[in-house]
Amino acid sequence: MSEATFHFPRGFLWGTATSSHQVEGNNTNNNWYVWENTPGKIIEGQKAGLACDWWGGRWKEDFDRAQETGQNAHRFSIEWSRIQPKPDEWDEDALHVYGDMARDLAHRGMAPLVTLHHFTDPIWLTEKGGWENPETVNLFAAYVRKVASALKEYASLWVTINEPNVFVVSGWVEGAFPPGKHDLNLAMRVYANLVRAHAAAYKIIHELQPEAQVGMAINYRSLVPARKWMPLDGLLANIQNQFFNNAFPAAITTGKLDMYLKKISIPEAAKTQDFIGVNYYSRDIVKLNLLGGNILLDSRIAPEGAAMSPTGFIANVPAGMYESLQWAHGFNLPILVTENGIEDEPDTLRPRYTAEHLHQVWRAANFNWRIKGYFHWSLVDNFEWERGWTQRFGLWGLDTATQKRIRRPSVDLYAEICKENGISSEMVRKYAPEALETIFPPA
Ligand code: FCB
Repeated sequence: MSEATFHFPRGFLWGTATSSHQVEGNNTNNNWYVWENTPGKIIEGQKAGLACDWWGGRWKEDFDRAQETGQNAHRFSIEWSRIQPKPDEWDEDALHVYGDMARDLAHRGMAPLVTLHHFTDPIWLTEKGGWENPETVNLFAAYVRKVASALKEYASLWVTINEPNVFVVSGWVEGAFPPGKHDLNLAMRVYANLVRAHAAAYKIIHELQPEAQVGMAINYRSLVPARKWMPLDGLLANIQNQFFNNAFPAAITTGKLDMYLKKISIPEAAKTQDFIGVNYYSRDIVKLNLLGGNILLDSRIAPEGAAMSPTGFIANVPAGMYESLQWAHGFNLPILVTENGIEDEPDTLRPRYTAEHLHQVWRAANFNWRIKGYFHWSLVDNFEWERGWTQRFGLWGLDTATQKRIRRPSVDLYAEICKENGISSEMVRKYAPEALETIFPPA
């Protein structure tokens, strides 16, 4: 076995990512609270509840954990329903809490990356039609102005909207997220409003903070046709690739939102990203399935032979990470891996998954593609949307009954990587020996 250390570029950001509703607890003024209290929406009727109790102050101890284990950045999100509890009311105290979080990170030498929208909306907004209503663009802009004015002293890295593609598909196509609809026309209308909202936010943040770096985070899904001889597999993969992966990032580059089935011109969105944020988790094989209810959604299967996460949610396909970065490189912008991780309560696959995915990030960085950082999802187990607490993505585990954190072996692997700014054969041998041959093949 060859002995080596693969180093990352100087100044590389190493962090974890979280989002408000998933970690804060007691968010009772947003649409997910309503969703969780609607029977049948969340697995086993589970609720976010106290989550990781960040709103009760435990963010501080979790930031201690991140800092002590060598992280120099953290991605967190702002809960719109806390900042603006009613259409005509701003909560300055809530704004201060986020200001404290950003300042605290900065003082620790950890760059704050602030997400402005991560799936949740204030109840009052949804009562006005939410993202189906074009008015929401202006309402979002006002909220962004408020937050950016308050946080610009401490934070200059911004994600406007997290995974607009997942937000649209889960909320308006699959129906697993609120508002739980199955309506492609509405889905496309929401997509367009999100592009407009991103563009407005981009301009406001730059007006307030000229040095800001503003982007969004796309959920890049690697989609591979199952059978070369079957043109419909390829066609289905192309449609999904355009609708899901490309549409949004291309729209905020060119000002044209091309959803394959429909094109909308949004000229004000052209050139409104300073970096491209990539959330990569896994790959799907696309295989025409005429027996499924929905030809697009039911034609995806797990890649054969890949190791699977405990609930079968994520297949370990590191090559897809490389593919996502190659695709991102096509935008000719700096790249941040804004999320990557695996649900794995026993932590049996996570060390290997992490090492193998970071190896691919390192390969891509060696082509001088401008990869600036990596944020592992997540710091501590948190509420996984419609999958509730059945999926555990944390480096640290969480006992929800006691709020006790459980240090998984992956904590130590990731700490060694962050501190070294690199990944070595020694680390892989110690934490993920199964990955040794793939990452450090015999000479
Ligand atoms: C992403 C979401 C994030 C988390 C991870 C596992 O799609 O952005 O909130 O749920 O998946």
